[in-house]
Amino acid sequence: MARQFRLRPSPTEGDGAEPGENYNLDRRRFMRYSFNSAAGVITMASFGSIGFASLLMGATDSAGAGNSILYWVPKGQEDTVWFGADHLGAMTKSAFEAQAAKSDTGMAGAQGVWGGLPVNVVYVPHEENKDSPPTEGKPRFQFMDGADQTGAVIGFGGEIEEMAQWSSLKIHDNIIIIFSRCPHLCCIPGWQLVANDFTADNWLPGGLDSGGNKLFCICHSSRYDPTVIEKNTNRNRRSGTVFDYFGVKRTGGPAPVGMPLVPFTVKNDVLEVIDFEAEGIVEMMDWYTFCN
Ligand code: FES
Repeated sequence: MARQFRLRPSPTEGDGAEPGENYNLDRRRFMRYSFNSAAGVITMASFGSIGFASLLMGATDSAGAGNSILYWVPKGQEDTVWFGADHLGAMTKSAFEAQAAKSDTGMAGAQGVWGGLPVNVVYVPHEENKDSPPTEGKPRFQFMDGADQTGAVIGFGGEIEEMAQWSSLKIHDNIIIIFSRCPHLCCIPGWQLVANDFTADNWLPGGLDSGGNKLFCICHSSRYDPTVIEKNTNRNRRSGTVFDYFGVKRTGGPAPVGMPLVPFTVKNDVLEVIDFEAEGIVEMMDWYTFCN
């Protein structure tokens, strides 16, 4: 009998599916849903004791409507992730600071949802460490050249610090927000939802695949260093359109490139995405729809 995965139902059951439809899927259906968001539902799978969660979200889902960024607690992980009691609660900077203070590296991360889209939010003690020589266990954001799968250099991640056009992505508050669809086959990489050498609480400079605190995609083990910002290209799955973006570096696995950043502000301690359409930064529409 095919293995069944327990799923969390969509916060808005607007797709007409019966509850049972969302709660149990066999592997074939899970993979189909996870690779294509056309159904527009949110699903969450638990792989038994591993506790990996993957979710699928339609861009028009109203969960996390507006600009707020909400915690998304993987089904079955309510007692293990540090934000387990905060499912669909608003993310705050102070919560990440408090959690980061408990780690060896001063880093913390969490799964989230913004307007129906999956994100990972990662706190890095950049301000504290940026003026010291890079050393093991002292993470900071690093800006590097991005190269596509052919090896061609696309551009420099530091453009977000230097160019007015990209000032909304400038590093601030020791936090970045990452649009979390894997450029391999569009699964949803997570933050420390599995335990292995890539996700351990340690850090090495240089954007290497070694060193921990990677975003890890359990589907086929792609890894991303959330402390390395690069400029790169990606391709829309449906139209084939190639676009430039700024995002975190892919360090290993089958994903061809990394995942894009999301511009945000901190208002009264609460994390909110900047309305980039209203700001006229229309390029970013491509960044968050490449799996659609
Ligand atoms: S979908 Fe992420 S590694 Fe395959």
